[in-house]
Amino acid sequence: MTAPKLSLTTTTADEATADAVIIGTVQDGNGSGVALAPGSERVDAAFGGTLAEVLRTVGATGAQDEVVKIPSMGKVKAGLVVAAGLGRSTGDGPTAEQVRRASGAAARALAGTARAVTTLSTVDLQAAVEGIVLGAYRFTEYRSDTGERPVERVDVVAPAEGAAKDHRATLKAATAIAEAVCTARDLVNTPPNDLFPASFAERAAALGKAAGVEVEILDEKALRKGGFGGVLGVGMGSSRPPRVVRMSWKGPKARKKVALVGKGITFDTGGISIKPAANMDEMTSDMSGAAAIVATMVLAAKLKYPLELTATVPMAENMPSGAAYRPGDVLTMYGGKTVEVLNTDAEGRLILADAIVRACEDGPDYLVEAATLTGAQIVSLGRRTAGIMGSDEFRDRVAAIAQATGEGGWPMPLPEELRADLDSRLADLANVAGHRWGGMLVAGLFLREFVAEGVPWAHLDVAGPAFNNGGPWGYTPKGGTGQPVRTLAAVLADIAENG
Ligand code: BES
Ligand code: MN
Ligand code: ZN
Repeated sequence: MTAPKLSLTTTTADEATADAVIIGTVQDGNGSGVALAPGSERVDAAFGGTLAEVLRTVGATGAQDEVVKIPSMGKVKAGLVVAAGLGRSTGDGPTAEQVRRASGAAARALAGTARAVTTLSTVDLQAAVEGIVLGAYRFTEYRSDTGERPVERVDVVAPAEGAAKDHRATLKAATAIAEAVCTARDLVNTPPNDLFPASFAERAAALGKAAGVEVEILDEKALRKGGFGGVLGVGMGSSRPPRVVRMSWKGPKARKKVALVGKGITFDTGGISIKPAANMDEMTSDMSGAAAIVATMVLAAKLKYPLELTATVPMAENMPSGAAYRPGDVLTMYGGKTVEVLNTDAEGRLILADAIVRACEDGPDYLVEAATLTGAQIVSLGRRTAGIMGSDEFRDRVAAIAQATGEGGWPMPLPEELRADLDSRLADLANVAGHRWGGMLVAGLFLREFVAEGVPWAHLDVAGPAFNNGGPWGYTPKGGTGQPVRTLAAVLADIAENG
C-alpha cells in the first residue's frame, strides 16, 4: 500500500497548482438537478457562476458515488475539475460520512494522477483526509501488471475556521487512522497460502514492534502448556499450527485498561463439518477481526492514546484432515470450561473463548472483541451493518460510536431463552444450538459464558462488513474493507476521554 502524500494548503482551489481540483456536488431539493456543495465557491466564481449549469449539462446529478470530470479550459489553474457527488443534502450541510465517501470515490477515480487539490476538506477536514487515503487504496501485491498508480499527492485546502496547529493535528490523526484501516485491509487481502497462523503472528509482531508495542507469540507448545484447548482443537486439522499473539501497550497517564480480542481464522473450510465449495475462497477474510485488532493496537501506540491496552489474538486455520477435531469432540478450554463440539464450522467462538478468558485475567475495565463470526449476521443485518452485542450499556455506547464513524453497526440483544439451547449432553456447553434461529445472538451468548463477571464487553460481528464481495463504492474497495478499525479507534478515543 502506498498512501498519497497529503499536505494542507491555504491557497484557494482556483489558484492551486494541481492536475485536478475536487469539488463536491449535491442532489438538489427534488433530486432532478445538481447543486454545488460548500467549498466550491472559488471554482464556481472562476467559471463565472456557471459551474452547476455546466455540470448539469454533462449529466451530473450529485448522487453518491458519482464522479464527473470536466476540463477547466484555463478557468482555474488545474486542468480538470472533478465533481464528486455527496448525495442528498440533509439541510445542515453534508455529513462527515458523505464527505468521506465522496472523497473516496474521487480519489479512486484519480488513479494515475500526479497531483490533486480538494475543497471537500473545507467542509470536514478529517472525513476528507480519511476518504482520500481509503479511496486511493489498492492491493497489487500479487499482480504482474500493477496498473495505474494511486493519486500521488493531494493538497487539502484548510478550513477557514480553526487554528493551523489544530488542522495539522487533525490531518495527522486522520491519516494515521486511515492507514491503520489500510493495514488491516492488506492483512485480509493477503491470500491464505501466505497468511497462516505463524506468518500472521510474525507480521503482527513486526507491525507492533515498529510502533513500540510489546509482542509475545505463543506457539503450539506454549498453547499446550497454557491449556488453550479451543485454539488447539480448531487448529488440529491444519499442517500449520495455531498461534496466540499477545500485544500490550501503555500510554502516558493511562487511567483505563482496555482488552481487545479478534478472531484470526486464516482460512475457514468449516473443518469436518465442511462448507459448500461456492464462495469458500471468501473465507480468506475470516481473520478480519484479528487484523482490525492488530492494526488498532499499532494505531493506538502511534496516536499515544492515554490507555493501557492488551490485545489477545488467537490464530488458527480450520481444515478437515485425519488430524482434525471432530463433531462430538469435547474440548477443555483455557480456564477449564468444557465444550462439546457439535459443528466444527462454529470454530470462531472456540478460539475466541480461550482468548476472552485470557484477556479477562488482566482485569480490564472494558473488553472489545471483533469477529467475522456468523453468516446469520449477514442474514439479519445485511453486508454493511455490523451486529453489536454485549453488556447492555457498553453495547449501546459502542453501537452509537460505530454509527458516528460511518462504519455502521446496530445493537442486538442476547435473549436469555436462547441460552438453554447451548446446553450439552455431556459437557458444560455445546458450541452450537440445535436450530438455526438467531444464529448471531446464539454465538454472542456462547461468548458471554467466557467473559469475566462484571467486565463491560462488546462483541462486534462483522461477517458482512469486513469483506466487500461486490464492486467498489465510496471509499470501500473490493475485498478487505478494514472494518471495524475506525469504530475500534473511536471507542478507544472515547474511553480515553470519558472513562
Ligand atoms: N466464518 C464463518 C462465518 C461467516 C460466514 C463469515 C459468511 C463471513 C461470511 C463462521 O465460522 C461460521 O462458519 N459460522 C457458522 C456457524 C454455524 C455453524 C452455527 C455459520 O454462520 O454458518
Ligand atoms: Mn466456520
Ligand atoms: Zn469462521
